[in-house]
Amino acid sequence: MRKVKIKVNELSVFFNFLQALNRVSIEIYGNKVTAIIGPSGCGKTSFLRTINRMNELIIGFRKKGEVLIDNINIYNNNIDVVNLRRLVGMVFQSSNLFPKSIYENLAFAPKIHGIKDQKIIDELIEETCTKAAIWEEIKDRLEVNALTLSAGQQQRLCIARALTIQPDILLMDEPASMLDPISTAKIEELIFDLKKKYTIIVVTHNMQQAARISDFTAFFYLGQLVEYDKTTKLFTNPSNKQTEDYLTGRFG
Ligand SMILES: Nc1ncnc2c1ncn2[C@@H]1O[C@H](COP(=O)(O)OP(=O)(O)OP(=O)(O)O)[C@@H](O)[C@H]1O
Ligand SMILES: [Mg+2]
Repeated sequence: MRKVKIKVNELSVFFNFLQALNRVSIEIYGNKVTAIIGPSGCGKTSFLRTINRMNELIIGFRKKGEVLIDNINIYNNNIDVVNLRRLVGMVFQSSNLFPKSIYENLAFAPKIHGIKDQKIIDELIEETCTKAAIWEEIKDRLEVNALTLSAGQQQRLCIARALTIQPDILLMDEPASMLDPISTAKIEELIFDLKKKYTIIVVTHNMQQAARISDFTAFFYLGQLVEYDKTTKLFTNPSNKQTEDYLTGRFG
C-alpha cells in the first residue's frame, strides 16, 4: 500500500530573479526511498530545501505553490519551524559539523529537543553511529574535534547526527558522494534499512546508486519535474525522451 507522505503542488522557487523550480507537483510516498536525479543546477537541492523550509534562510528566496506533509501545509503561519526541522532531518552535500568534539556534535540535537538523561543520550549516540557505520572508528575518540575526521567519516557522522533527532523524513543530498566503495555500500544498506521507519529522499548523481536503493525516481531538468515513476520503470523504460537521453549519458 502506498501512503502519500509529502504532497507538493505547483511549487515554483525563485532566488531573486532566478527561477530554480518551475511548477513542480509530486507525491512522495511514506516508508519508501525516492531518488532525485538530474544534471547540476536543475534544482534538486532547492527542492529538498523547501521540504524543511531551509530555503527561507536565503535572502531573495520566494516560492509559489504548496508543500504538505501528512496533509498539513508546512508553510502555514502556525507551523513551528524548529519542530518541522526535527521531523524532517537533512544530510547536506558537504559535511557541516561544528568545530567541536565528535560527542558534542552528536549530543547537540537530542539536548536541544529536551533529552536530559545522559545515559539515554549515550545510548542514542551509539545506536545511530552504529547504524551510520561510523561507531567503530570513533568510539574511542569521542572527545576529539570532529573536523579532524576524514571527509568520508565526517559525512557518516553527519548521517548519524541527523538520526539522533529521530526524524520522520530524512532528506539526503548526495550523502555518498565523498565516500569510498565500502562506506558507500554501508550507507546504501543503511538507507534500505531506514525506510522501514522513515520516508527518505536522496539526491544522487550516481545512476547505479539510484537504481539500487530507490523505489521511486524523479528526474528533474531545468527546474522542472520531467518524469517520476517507479525506479524499475524509469530506468528500464522511461516515458520521456529527455529522461532516456539523460540516463544513456547523451547530456548532463
Ligand atoms: N542560495 C542561492 N542563491 C541564488 N541562487 C541559488 C541559490 N541556491 C541555488 N541557486 C540557483 O538555483 C538553481 C538550482 O540550484 P540547485 O542547487 O538546486 O541545483 P542542484 O540540482 O542541486 O545542482 P547540483 O547537482 O550541482 O548540486 C541554480 O541555478 C542555482 O544557481
Ligand atoms: Mg545540489
